[in-house]
Amino acid sequence: MKTRLSVNINKIALLRNARNSNLPNVVQFAKDCERFGAEGITIHPRPDERHIRYQDAYDLKPVVSTEFNIEGYPGKRFMAMVREVKPHQCTLVPDPPDVLTSNAGWDTLSNESLLKDIIGELKEAGIRVSLFIETKRKMIEGALKVGADRIELYTGPYAANYANNNEAAISDYRKAAEFATAVGLGVNAGHDLNLDNLKYFNQEIPSLLEVSIGHALVADALYYGIENTIQMYQKRLHP
Ligand code: PXP
Repeated sequence: MKTRLSVNINKIALLRNARNSNLPNVVQFAKDCERFGAEGITIHPRPDERHIRYQDAYDLKPVVSTEFNIEGYPGKRFMAMVREVKPHQCTLVPDPPDVLTSNAGWDTLSNESLLKDIIGELKEAGIRVSLFIETKRKMIEGALKVGADRIELYTGPYAANYANNNEAAISDYRKAAEFATAVGLGVNAGHDLNLDNLKYFNQEIPSLLEVSIGHALVADALYYGIENTIQMYQKRLHP
């Protein structure tokens, strides 16, 4: 099965926002990522719009021809935008407004009723829903119970441990992905994936459907250029 590479373009918006102009152009960048081989575009608008702005979601929708994935905490404004934009996939993330980057997965048990309502609403609008979670079996069972289509495994801890001991780093993820697949949940992954740790993760998780990668990929593009960089990530996924 082919794992899709979704490029998270938040950092391109961050660079644009440093000046009052449209450079770099986020919409053009998304189109070019697709032209260079990305199979999805991910954005993660936050309430302070410090990188992706809500308007970007509307501007990107007509041009993204692969898979459009919008991530975020399901607050009122976020939900109103997602209902209007109707991306292919919405990845719900439990991050509080002031956090620097997502650093934990949902507690699907204590948030059961919130998630059930929100997921029901999104699915009714024809949007696939993925829940950003960690590897604990109870949380995956919770994701199934609240009606998620997929989970996105938070790979921060994998990335942090990969260099020390790759087998120890992957083992919980392998079990989590096997369990999720067995109960009918699709498996995505993201956070801190990079050119060093991606190949092993993908190779060890055969059911992996999609990875979303932003920070390292954009940093690599400063050296290699975005076209080469996307090809390099694709080679890690499909050697
Ligand atoms: N998945 C989620 C839910 C995220 O919040 C982020 C960061 O915005 C990513 C994936 C991508 O992480 P990174 O930028 O470290 O590749």
